[in-house]
This record gives sequence, C-alpha cells and structure tokens, in this order.
Amino acid sequence: MRRELVRKIRNRSANVAVIGLGYVGLPLALQIASAGFKVVGIDLDQNKIATLKAGKSYIGDAADETVAGALATGRFLPTSEFAALRDVDTVSICVPTPLSKSRDPDISFILSATEKIRKYLHPGQLIVLESTTYPGTTDELILPELESSGLRVGRDFFLAFSPERIDPGNTSFNTRNTPKIVGGITEECTEIAHIFYSQFIERVVPVSSTKCAEMVKLLENTFRSVNIGMVNELALMCDVLGVDVYEVIDAAATKPFGFIPFYPGPGLGGHCIPIDPHYLAWKLKALNFQARFIALAAEINGMMPTVVTTMVGEGLNRFSRSIRGSKVLILGVAYKKNVSDCRESPALDVMRMLIQKGAVLSYNDPFVATLRMNGNTMKSVDLTSANIASQDCIVILTDHSDYDLHRIIAAAKLVVDTRNATKDLQQFKDKIIKLGAGNSIASFARHPDDSENAPMSLLTH
Ligand SMILES: NC(=O)c1ccc[n+]([C@@H]2O[C@H](COP(=O)([O-])OP(=O)(O)OC[C@H]3O[C@@H](n4cnc5c(N)ncnc54)[C@H](O)[C@@H]3O)[C@@H](O)[C@H]2O)c1
Repeated sequence: MRRELVRKIRNRSANVAVIGLGYVGLPLALQIASAGFKVVGIDLDQNKIATLKAGKSYIGDAADETVAGALATGRFLPTSEFAALRDVDTVSICVPTPLSKSRDPDISFILSATEKIRKYLHPGQLIVLESTTYPGTTDELILPELESSGLRVGRDFFLAFSPERIDPGNTSFNTRNTPKIVGGITEECTEIAHIFYSQFIERVVPVSSTKCAEMVKLLENTFRSVNIGMVNELALMCDVLGVDVYEVIDAAATKPFGFIPFYPGPGLGGHCIPIDPHYLAWKLKALNFQARFIALAAEINGMMPTVVTTMVGEGLNRFSRSIRGSKVLILGVAYKKNVSDCRESPALDVMRMLIQKGAVLSYNDPFVATLRMNGNTMKSVDLTSANIASQDCIVILTDHSDYDLHRIIAAAKLVVDTRNATKDLQQFKDKIIKLGAGNSIASFARHPDDSENAPMSLLTH
C-alpha cells in the first residue's frame, strides 16, 4: 500500500485533490499541477468553479494566465463534485477555520470536508489537513471520523497535518519556496506526507506529531499577534512621551541580533493573525489554562480602531469641527497593502465607528471596488484632487503602493496616518496626525498635572 502510493507520488502519476480553493487552496492546487500532477480542485462555491473553468482567477496571488495555463494542460480540474475523490490518491484540505459569533473556533468546514472524504476513503490514500486549527484537531476529530469507515491509519490510509504558511501579496515567498512543516499520525504518515510535499515545495520540515505541527502554526501567528500588540501599546506610550515610535523602532532595528521590528497600525486583519491565537486560547481554556499573552494582545490590538477614531476626532477638533457632519475619506480598506482581502480588516471597525459618530464617510481602495457596510453597499470613490480637497479628514488605514501620497496630502486639509506612510512628506507635517508620533490621541496626557484628563479608557483599558 505504502510502496505503491510512494511510487505514484514520485512518478507523478498520483491523482491529487485540493478541497477549498481560496487564498490557500488555489495557489497550492496550481503549484501541484505545475509539478506535473493531475489535480482535482473541489470547492462548494459554484461561482469560483465557474470562474476557474473560464480560465480566470479571483485572487491576487494566482494570475489568470496561470489558471488558464493549468486548465490547458488538462492537469487542473476545478469541480464542485466530491465524487471526484473516488479516484484520488492524496487529499489536501484547505477550508476556512473562522470564529463563531461567540468567538469560539468554528471547525464545521473541516468536519464537513472530512465527512465527504470518509465517504470516498479507500486504501492507499494520503489525507492532509492544512487549515489552521487548534492542537488535537487531526488526531481527536479527523482520525476517528476517517477510521469509522473501517479503514486503519498507517495500514490502509495515511493522515497528516501540514499548516499553510502563504502570505498573500508577498512577492518573495510563495507556495514553492516557503518551507513546509509536516507531522503525521504515525511515522509512515509523516514520511509519505514529506515525500508528497517535497515534489513541489523546496524544503519540507518533518515534526514528530500532528499536534506539534498544529502548534507550530499557532506559535507563528501568536508570535505576530503578541508582538504587534506590544508595539501598538508602545505606540501609545510614545504618544504620551512625545517620541516618534517609528524612529525608535528603526533605530532599535539596527541591532544585528536579538531584535525583530514590528510596526504599529490600526489593528489586526486577515483570516489568520486576529483569529488563530483564539483557537489556541480556546483549547487551553478547555484544559483549565489561561493564555494570558493572547488575551492581552487581543485586547490591545482590538482597541486600535477606537484609537484611530479618537485621532480623527482630535484632528477635526483643531478646526473646531466634530466628527458628526464632517467629510471623512478612508484610504485603504483591505487588511494589508496591495491585497483585496477585507476579512477582519480593522478598517471595517474604524468605518463603523465613524459612521456611528455621524461622519459623512467615503473610501478609496484600488483593490476593493465595493464594500458592504451596515447593510449598504459603498463604492470606492475616485481620488481626484477636488474630492480630496473637499474632505475634512483623510485617514490612511492601508498604505497601498499605488497611492500617490504626495499629491493626496498636498491637496488634503487634515491627514490621519496610521501606517507611517507619510514619513517622507515632512513638508506637510502640520496637517498630519501620525499614530505614535507624540501628536495624536494621548498627547494631552503628557503633563502629569493633566493626567486626570487623559482618555483612561484607552490608556489603561
Ligand atoms: N489566507 C491566508 O493568508 C492564510 C494563510 C495561512 C493559513 N490560512 C488558513 O488556511 C485555511 C483556508 O484559508 P483561506 O484564506 O484559503 O480561506 P478562503 O475562505 O479564501 O477559502 C476557503 C475555500 O473553501 C471553500 N469551502 C468551504 N467549505 C468547503 C467544503 N466543505 N468543501 C469544499 N470547499 C469548501 C470555500 O468556498 C472557499 O472557497 C484557513 O484555515 C486559514 O486559517 C490562511
């Protein structure tokens, strides 16, 4: 069983399935197809399948030509039919793992995909979960479900966890050159998963168990969440102290060892950093252990949209204006630069708060043509100089490379900069309020005598 599967993998005659063709699954499926495998891409979303069948892509990291090229080779077969699993030798699961309304892990997508796999499970298959999830998901949930078929892991089929590490919009690191962790239920499971991924990924790193592999991913994203939380708090400290946090970070980053720069911003976004640490904290809570760094980072990062809203209010105050009735234009609603993904974007929170306070709000994002906000559809507006000049405040939330900031800021009356995007535009500094630069929300708390007037809900929250 094992030998036959390895033989097929090595000579590329193994049929591969990828379940879930989103930001993770589509680039993965295309990468596997480009290595010479026949790949069935399965997604429940009929629109995505129709788009792919027409040779088009819907995500930035997969070009239309790549999709069309893969289709033309006959090695990429997008479908919504799970019966295709009947003929495949390997299955990689890349479905979403969001949080429920009560902020608990929602693993229903993983469970539903696993049920489909179990229906078509046959001897000699390798099953790999790639979705980020809490430690124990693969061996406590997926394994029993698959073994309920009567087949045995390590004997009849092989099961592993291999976290996806894709970084959308990253032009240096992609599926092929980002090292991949694999951890199997048995040593053979790890070995076969290692062999499979080595066919199309430059470096594969085996670990001793599925739980370890699950934990690796959560360490990586918790590391980012905690460090971003720390630096966001540092930005507020610098504001109180009247020091530019970016100057501090850039100077500290000259230390060639023991320091990694992280930068403040309007809050966390995307499908990973704001969510994944909660998976770990939730699991630990069930084991009576409190993940305190995770909770504190979530609290500080979650407060940043409120900080930005306060900065807007402070800026308008300079002109004796209130947020209510002021025209505010948001630049960038995607959660990070040069991508279109708005999932969990802090821009959505900032926009909701500003609307709630009565701002006359509009936005521009070259990657996001329309946006649902409070039940309405908003359209990205044009950045004409006349439109910019008519605004009471411009808020830079995502510093897309396309923005001609010199032109925008020259025309603007007031700019709130949450990304240090204006660092080279010092000539306009009098109209710029920058996060963590000693001139935004906490500035009036600088004098100890006035400290009772500081916005304590923000500073000591
Ligand atoms: N987006 C990232 O940057 C990133 C990076 C690393 C890891 N991850 C992790 O990868 C996983 C997938 O994330 P994503 O960003 O690709 O999500 P996504 O929402 O972009 O894509 C998931 C796809 O799965 C499909 N789907 C849902 N349930 C399905 C089912 N039962 N069968 C078939 N298809 C189904 C959806 O229609 C969707 O197209 C998540 O666990 C996420 O945490 C994401």
